[in-house]
Amino acid sequence: MPSRRSSVYRCTECGAEHPKWVGRCEGCGAWNTVAEEPVTRPAGKRGRAKGSVPGRAPVRLADLAVQRVSRWSTGLGEFDYVLGGGVVPGSLILVGGEPGIGKSTLLLQCAARLEGQGIATLYASGEEAPEQIKLRADRLAEDCGNVKLLGEVRLEEIIAQASITGAKVLVVDSIQTTYTEELEGAPGNVGQVRECAARLMRFAKDSSTAVLLVGHVTRGGVIAGPKTLEHIVDTVLYFEGDTSSDYRILRAVKNRFGSVDEVGVFEMTGRGLVPVENPSAAFLSSRDSSAPGSAVTALMEGTRPLLVEIQALAARSGFGTPQRVATGLDHRRLAVLLAVLEQRAGLKFHEQDVFVNVTGGVRLLEPAADLAVVAALCSTLYNRPVAADTIFLGEVGLGGEVRPIVALERRLAEAERLGFRRAFVSSRSRPTSALDLVPVAHVAELARRLAA
Ligand code: TYD
Ligand code: MG
Repeated sequence: MPSRRSSVYRCTECGAEHPKWVGRCEGCGAWNTVAEEPVTRPAGKRGRAKGSVPGRAPVRLADLAVQRVSRWSTGLGEFDYVLGGGVVPGSLILVGGEPGIGKSTLLLQCAARLEGQGIATLYASGEEAPEQIKLRADRLAEDCGNVKLLGEVRLEEIIAQASITGAKVLVVDSIQTTYTEELEGAPGNVGQVRECAARLMRFAKDSSTAVLLVGHVTRGGVIAGPKTLEHIVDTVLYFEGDTSSDYRILRAVKNRFGSVDEVGVFEMTGRGLVPVENPSAAFLSSRDSSAPGSAVTALMEGTRPLLVEIQALAARSGFGTPQRVATGLDHRRLAVLLAVLEQRAGLKFHEQDVFVNVTGGVRLLEPAADLAVVAALCSTLYNRPVAADTIFLGEVGLGGEVRPIVALERRLAEAERLGFRRAFVSSRSRPTSALDLVPVAHVAELARRLAA
């Protein structure tokens, strides 16, 4: 006897099914992960009836014709680049980011540009009233006049309107304010968010409409509620940046139609977001290389090297435990590097408050930046600036040893392009480069050279 229930309660972590909502999953013990899910209708008869037309037949791989994915280029260079060349029709793209970072601005600009090419768009917002969106539109360099707006939170209505207006691109701002009437529970809860995303995915595939979905990210960095959303959609882009800086970084963390980890850099101006064509130069533009505590490194962001400045400041602390404040890098990584400098190079930080900052709102995710962090720390402690034309490329191990890093030559080439002359690298790497290479084996050696 098939169940008559129209929904089940499923744990979004382990998938365990519960007959009713519970605060704690009995399967895996996780709290607050159980969400309502509609039951998919049971297929009428199991198996295929005799004489019915079979579905799609299997195909030999060799016989498959490769179709090139068509794309709509928005003309916002960095956005197209991160997507892998433009918006793919029928794809579902999630744009996540903290509130206020510029997601709505980015997607409104995209909609305007696509509309400008005659690609019909619909911008559905449950976040702001149409009048508010109009105010934003009036600030932008783009002409948003033809973008159709819909102030709506009901998913069914949004999809219906997208079909009626024949939109080829649908923006839903945001997934947390959208809800389906088929599920109980307030908008933004895990079940609603997942179901709405799954329905939008089906709509995108069935109608070849590209759906761009806004998702708010909490300070902790997860897309509010459901990390599971990432599995549903085709592409996940994160829009990041430091609100104290005007630079914004768009990062692809999942992409079924392009490569991941590619980043695009924008600047938030008074007239919306402007793609930054030469991010390395932009990030170094406000650098004061005569100040102690500043060192430059090159990060690999996807396939592109990106030069960033690391600033460190050590200041004698008052009483109690000295402070360690890291912006743009993991504070545990900073603690490790400080401990290595203390133990392996004899530098004394235990009575110093230490502040480290990565400029431009970039986050250091690779250990390749270690050597530059260490150089900035030595420089501030010695109160001696690092030579302006020098770059640091190396990973630091717990023994104080300087290790080789990946893609060293590409990073060196970018540094050369931006006028750098000298590079500190691991003595174990043998790159070919036009730069003057300074091989270092150990952090103590680096510290000695920077003190001299
Ligand atoms: P918004 O797109 O509303 O962010 P989100 O949708 O991610 O919450 O943009 C928020 C900020 O951007 C807001 O503080 C104002 C600023 N802004 C500009 O500086 N210039 C502009 O042209 C626009 C439209 C916004
Ligand atoms: Mg918004």
